[in-house]
Amino acid sequence: MNKTSVASSEHDLRDAYAVALDDIDVSNPELYRNDTWRPYFKRLREEDPVHFCKDSMFGPYWSITKFADIMRVDTSPEIFSSEAKFGGITIMDDNKAVSLPMFIAMDPPKHDEQRLAVSPIVAPENLAKLEGLIRDRTAGVLDSLPLNETFDWVRNVSINLTTQMLATLFDFPWEDRAKLTRWSDVATTIPGAGVIESEEERMSELQECAAYMTRLWNDRVNAEPRNDLISMMAHSQATRNQTPEEFLGNMLLLIVGGNDTTRNSMTGGVVALNEFPNEYRKLCGNPNLVGSMVPEIIRWQTPLAHMRRTALTDTEIGGKSIRKGDKVIMWYVSGNRDPEAIENPDAFIIDRARPRHHLSFGFGIHRCVGNRLAELQLRIIWEELLKRWPNPMQIEVVGAPTRVLSPFVKGYESLPVRINV
Ligand code: HEM
Repeated sequence: MNKTSVASSEHDLRDAYAVALDDIDVSNPELYRNDTWRPYFKRLREEDPVHFCKDSMFGPYWSITKFADIMRVDTSPEIFSSEAKFGGITIMDDNKAVSLPMFIAMDPPKHDEQRLAVSPIVAPENLAKLEGLIRDRTAGVLDSLPLNETFDWVRNVSINLTTQMLATLFDFPWEDRAKLTRWSDVATTIPGAGVIESEEERMSELQECAAYMTRLWNDRVNAEPRNDLISMMAHSQATRNQTPEEFLGNMLLLIVGGNDTTRNSMTGGVVALNEFPNEYRKLCGNPNLVGSMVPEIIRWQTPLAHMRRTALTDTEIGGKSIRKGDKVIMWYVSGNRDPEAIENPDAFIIDRARPRHHLSFGFGIHRCVGNRLAELQLRIIWEELLKRWPNPMQIEVVGAPTRVLSPFVKGYESLPVRINV
């Protein structure tokens, strides 16, 4: 097969234990839309933790499903490459946007130099400066929500807040900020899933992003350095002279990196608390637990289901021989449910002893640049929510969520919610 279009995939949702082990394909996007991925990964972790899938809509690939093995791959960039030219960091080789050169899809030394260019945005003193602004904007959004009637949490809260945050980080024209969300969706979606129909359509729409960002860049490159991502890149030696592909790639990395992920954690928290009402009661009894609940939301949700690497040499992992050039998928979504690393991993528990012991941000040299910023945004939203609606189940999920059709972005299209006062 090897065609990245939903129409061409066969949605084989036979029970995870009825299918032959060799035929398990955890890249099937339907598993994520239908939320049926758990038993497949459980079986792989137990019976074949380093598993080869010979045929999928994304071609052949290895699955790494256990926490410890994922850490080994993620911390061995000299063996497992992120380079765009070998296939980059997702299973979707055909996606022309995520295959662009960008620093998440580079190996050292270039990766390290470009990463340094944007790191000041998340330095503790900058986060401290941002906190007040994030709190004001969060309060504004929450105060405008309808009460005692059903609305879509994804659109009204999660998308709204993450879009505002992105516009702030880029110092992007406020009235146009919805474009950032659209470009993010266009960059990561699978053609045919409702956003765009083809790779051509994807790249033609993203040319608008390139042109818009170039205008902002040109204004800032000749101005005094400022505290936004575009200015930081324009004034850093490592990122000042990028090829047009690299420029678009890095812009998309920063747009996508801070968008879908935080957005889906904002929704995931509401879903989790409703699925685990005892935890909701615990939280309302002790709002200080927000601090440990936030990383638990990020683990439980795992907003990016996987990262991909390509083997640079023949190697071995979990007793399996991986050949040079093989595609290796680190399934964070599975490592985060590995009982050998995390006790009672399917449960959402807001007062875990080591809540940051999870894989959602990756490990090693590519570990998420924005992790503290994401936690800050989530902490603030939950503090502000609990101030306004302090009682258990006041934020009530009143219908089933619709989930994203993707083996990469693990999240929600919509979530019907009612705030009961
Ligand atoms: C809950 C929210 C988030 C999650 C789950 C998440 C997840 C990830 C993951 C899994 C990686 C790759 C790690 C690896 O390969 O080892 C990553 C890298 C990255 N993330 Fe995030 N992210 C989040 C929020 C953010 C935010 C808010 C930003 C924006 C500032 C951001 C920007 C980036 C960038 C630029 C990289 C590339 C780092 C590198 O290659 O050195 N992320 N993120």
